[in-house]
Amino acid sequence: MNILQINSSPRRDASQSTRLATRVVLRLREAHPGAVVTVRDLGRAPHPELDEATLDALFTPAEKRTPEQAARVALDDALIAEIQAADIVVLGVPMYNFGISAQLKNWIDAISRAGVTFRYSEKGPEGLLEGKKAFVALTRGGRYRNTPADSQVPYLRTVLAFLGITDVHFVYAEGLAMGAEAAEKSIASAHEQIEEAVAA
Ligand SMILES: Cc1cc2nc3c(=O)[nH]c(=O)nc-3n(C[C@H](O)[C@H](O)[C@H](O)COP(=O)(O)O)c2cc1C
Repeated sequence: MNILQINSSPRRDASQSTRLATRVVLRLREAHPGAVVTVRDLGRAPHPELDEATLDALFTPAEKRTPEQAARVALDDALIAEIQAADIVVLGVPMYNFGISAQLKNWIDAISRAGVTFRYSEKGPEGLLEGKKAFVALTRGGRYRNTPADSQVPYLRTVLAFLGITDVHFVYAEGLAMGAEAAEKSIASAHEQIEEAVAA
């Protein structure tokens, strides 16, 4: 059993989404003793964005890449290998300006590779990261669950399904900027949601 934890808050010890993701992993380890956990902290070690040089590198055949291009592609290869090896993926996801953080977007851009993690056939797109489960711990200053302003959940559901990951559990901690009492209740509720999600 391999568990991959992806932290996507730029904040370190103060990050609520990282704390919740770590709690999910703790519960999963209790349920699966001996599980191997890999933590990819995109806040501590941000992954580079897709710029023109990177796209050129990706679309250059491997044997024709310059050493710089090969090194850049290798960074993405490492993230792809991590998720391919994972049975369970746990994402810590803060809401940033109604979307995901740039760090998480860069990770998604890195792992979404045609012919490797998805492919198109005459039947349409096919995700190649099958047989995995995902847990997503969402943290927000406000409250957007089940409203049109929550672009994170439909987006993450879509992109994960596109890659073949359809068994996804979302845990919400909302209203974290709405006073200490609201924040405390929200975290307590998120802890309950984690218990339910892990037991499901
Ligand atoms: C730059 C920035 C943008 C934010 N944008 C939103 C937002 O659009 N909606 C919201 O509810 N909270 C927003 N927040 C609040 C965060 O979602 C909240 O503080 C959350 O706990 C951050 O996750 P973290 O603790 O893992 O860093 C924003 C916070 C920052 C720093």
